[in-house]
Amino acid sequence: MKIIFATNNTHKLNEVQAILGPEFELATPRMVGITEEIPEEQETIEGNASQKAHYIHERTGNNCFADDTGLEVEALGGAPGVHSARYASDGHDFEANNQLLLRNLDGVGNRCARFRTVISLILDGKEHLFEGIVEGHIAQCPSGNEGFGYDPLFIPEGSTKTYAEMSAEEKNALSHRGRAVRKLVEFLHNRSK
Ligand code: IMP
Repeated sequence: MKIIFATNNTHKLNEVQAILGPEFELATPRMVGITEEIPEEQETIEGNASQKAHYIHERTGNNCFADDTGLEVEALGGAPGVHSARYASDGHDFEANNQLLLRNLDGVGNRCARFRTVISLILDGKEHLFEGIVEGHIAQCPSGNEGFGYDPLFIPEGSTKTYAEMSAEEKNALSHRGRAVRKLVEFLHNRSK
């Protein structure tokens, strides 16, 4: 099955393709001629996932899906949440976001946080939502070089390593996006039976 994944983030693309397997052929917006930035202007993670998927569907008519993820830190009242990409600036600067998060948690004992991903799938014109959540905490300083975004700071529950200290396979096996994508795959497999 050919399906458009509404992202131009190659880390995400590789993570998701690895879980979907070869029977699903992913195309990116660029591959189908959509080169502008896909708008994500909503105030919720669900809203942004849905907006991105509808944007692609309206322009291509193809089956497609989009994900949106937020890091929700308990002591910060759920921030950065839906603003995770642009926490420190408008520039999607991972390093600056991580530094700001550490500054905002300076001296804070409660470092509980969770990653939450929502996937919006538009299949045959109908929308379906899938959610993946991983609880964990924010490290005192960044560690590891794998992954992207807040990976060097996030230690999932039950682990001693940050996401950035894990191989792609390890992260996928337990990550928020991995959980949401496996729900998507199960749904697609059941549909094609
Ligand atoms: P997006 O809108 O789904 O791309 O996610 C918003 C922001 O959350 C990204 O710019 C990253 O900073 C962060 N993020 C999303 N997924 C991950 C992840 O798997 N690990 C670490 N950070 C992530």
